[in-house]
Amino acid sequence: MNTQQVQKLYSDFILPTYTQVPVCLVKGKGSRVWDIHNKEYLDFFPGWAVSGIGHCHPQVVNALKDQARKILHISNNFLNLKQAQLAQTLIKASFPGRVFFCNSGAEATESAVKFARKFGHEGGRYEIITMKCSFHGRTLAAITATGQDKVQKGFDPLPLGFRYAEFNDLGSVKSLVTEKTIAIFLEPIQGEGGVHVATQEFMKGLRRLCDENGLLLMLDEVQTGMGRTGKMFAFQYYGVEPDVMTLAKSLGGGTPIGALVVNRKVKPEVFTPGTHASTYGGNPLVCAAALAVFRAIRKEKLLHQAVVLGDYLAKKLNELKIEFPAIREIRGMGLMRGVEFDCPAGEIADRARENGLLINCTQEKILRIMPALTVTKKQIDTGCMILKKVIGEILTVRKS
Ligand SMILES: Cc1ncc(COP(=O)(O)O)c(C=O)c1O
Repeated sequence: MNTQQVQKLYSDFILPTYTQVPVCLVKGKGSRVWDIHNKEYLDFFPGWAVSGIGHCHPQVVNALKDQARKILHISNNFLNLKQAQLAQTLIKASFPGRVFFCNSGAEATESAVKFARKFGHEGGRYEIITMKCSFHGRTLAAITATGQDKVQKGFDPLPLGFRYAEFNDLGSVKSLVTEKTIAIFLEPIQGEGGVHVATQEFMKGLRRLCDENGLLLMLDEVQTGMGRTGKMFAFQYYGVEPDVMTLAKSLGGGTPIGALVVNRKVKPEVFTPGTHASTYGGNPLVCAAALAVFRAIRKEKLLHQAVVLGDYLAKKLNELKIEFPAIREIRGMGLMRGVEFDCPAGEIADRARENGLLINCTQEKILRIMPALTVTKKQIDTGCMILKKVIGEILTVRKS
């Protein structure tokens, strides 16, 4: 098979929901991936931030092999040892509480919205305040939680009860609180929205606002969780604890798992038997993989790596900013960095790919760079060298 033949299968049989590049990836190891023609790429956006500890991490692969030999799936009506152990590990790493497992970020959002609704039901409170320019997934509730017209367009009528505030503007959030409000839901760093980091003042202010009004502070750590920022969870930078946290992406090391973590302080038992469920949610296979991710992060000191290498990546990106005035700003934390241009940047991501570097462009002008926590300094040097070459070439052509 070659790329064109796979493309033909896509055009014949797959619904065209994705903008796709003509590259068929078939193999990965750490921060490297190979296409069907054995061309190698340096992957600085591994699996859309899913392969957070790198592709095919040996700990994850071995855990999967080991579990696959025992049992792949059991119903959630039976006790599942791996799920119980993963919940314990998650709680130890975050805050006292309880966990519900699902399969994706959108499903985790859906679970958080349902939890908030159930939590506020008796008091007639159901409104959730989310942020403009946020991203929470593609189910109907998740696109409604997402404060961007482009993902909602064409899908109305949308569920009721969502209001949208300006990110990092406490006054804007306060102005939307009514007697119907039950929760505030946001990403600590807006990823798809362009790598915008919540300020200390904003996050602390939100915690206070929630405490004063009996609201749930719900954090979407689908992208920022599992060490991405240098802490296991981004909320740990702010000295505030959320009431509800959603996880997915790199939790499963490449396998599909999502989680809703509910703080013990807010009565996780609001979800009684029969109120919520997911057939696949937290099956033994994905939980074994997620346990391996936690083990690898600890064993290889990947939180420290994310800080050190994240600083190094930021330094290298700032050198590019000095060289190219078209770069407006470098933002982010740990190994989650955004490079904002004063001009469209999609072509830069395309040309980087042609030159062997995979990155993402979001909101037209922002490059999103999120290498695996296992990336090396040398790989960061190589990636930044490719970026420098590509940006230089594109900007020179645009000027002439
Ligand atoms: C912050 C955030 N929340 C939720 C989601 C949705 O996750 P999924 O695509 O697994 O449904 C995403 C996906 O990009 C995300 O970045």
